[in-house]
Amino acid sequence: MKKIKVGLVGAAGRMGKEISQVVAEHPRFDLFYAYSRKDKWDAKKAAAVDVWIDFSSPQALKDVLKRAAENKTPVVCGTTGFTKKEKDLLQQYSKKIPVLWSSNMSLGVAVLNEALKSLAAISHFDFQIEEIHHNRKKDKPSGTAITLQENLEKAVGKKLPETLAVRGGGVFGVHKVFAMSDEEVLTFEHSALNRTVFAKGAVQAAEWLIKQKPGLYQIRDVLFGKKA
Ligand SMILES: NC(=O)c1ccc[n+]([C@@H]2O[C@H](COP(=O)([O-])OP(=O)(O)OC[C@H]3O[C@@H](n4cnc5c(N)ncnc54)[C@H](OP(=O)(O)O)[C@@H]3O)[C@@H](O)[C@H]2O)c1
Repeated sequence: MKKIKVGLVGAAGRMGKEISQVVAEHPRFDLFYAYSRKDKWDAKKAAAVDVWIDFSSPQALKDVLKRAAENKTPVVCGTTGFTKKEKDLLQQYSKKIPVLWSSNMSLGVAVLNEALKSLAAISHFDFQIEEIHHNRKKDKPSGTAITLQENLEKAVGKKLPETLAVRGGGVFGVHKVFAMSDEEVLTFEHSALNRTVFAKGAVQAAEWLIKQKPGLYQIRDVLFGKKA
């Protein structure tokens, strides 16, 4: 069977190394172009890539999307710390190519985001999100917490207090959602046990994305189908 050629942006980073390993062990994928910032851009090689996976920095996004669009190549992006500028870029390029962006590529967090919808039934409760990450993480609160907060506010129809963000040690990522009344506390908690969880999710997303039409997708769409 012909292998799917993966292009990887941020290949020398923590996530880049993890993704390289997952791709190397995957029977259907070939790590064809591992791009690091210090490398000279090889347009000919890039043209042969079937899908890009980008875990780098917000500053890289425009080039990644522009170069992918030149060859109509889908992009899976896991970079966080995006402002409106980067989110607009994702929207703009998703009209030309399939783009999947998620602040957290784990399947557990995708399910957690769906589960938040059920909290609409207790929207009168108090809510609080808390996240803990390793001390090298650049953005705060985490992209995952921002997405959880957006979805929770949508579900319960009110503005909620800011996420509590803790930085320390080597924690890969813990997210908690508390729903509290005078009588009870309900807690949803997700812990990433390693970085492989994000790499495996990104690779699963890439396998799904190459079969999609241009559009802006999220990891939840891989599990539940694209929202209308
Ligand atoms: N969605 C998810 O599931 C998920 C999970 C974990 C992490 N993340 C996010 O993924 C991103 C990377 O995380 P990380 O822990 O791997 O960070 P990292 O170790 O700092 O790696 C980032 C890599 O991207 C490269 N890079 C930065 N700017 C670039 C540019 N303009 N062009 C090309 N390459 C560039 C860096 O190169 P240099 O070494 O030259 O600086 C580095 O190799 C972060 O935004 C993080 O929050 C997302």
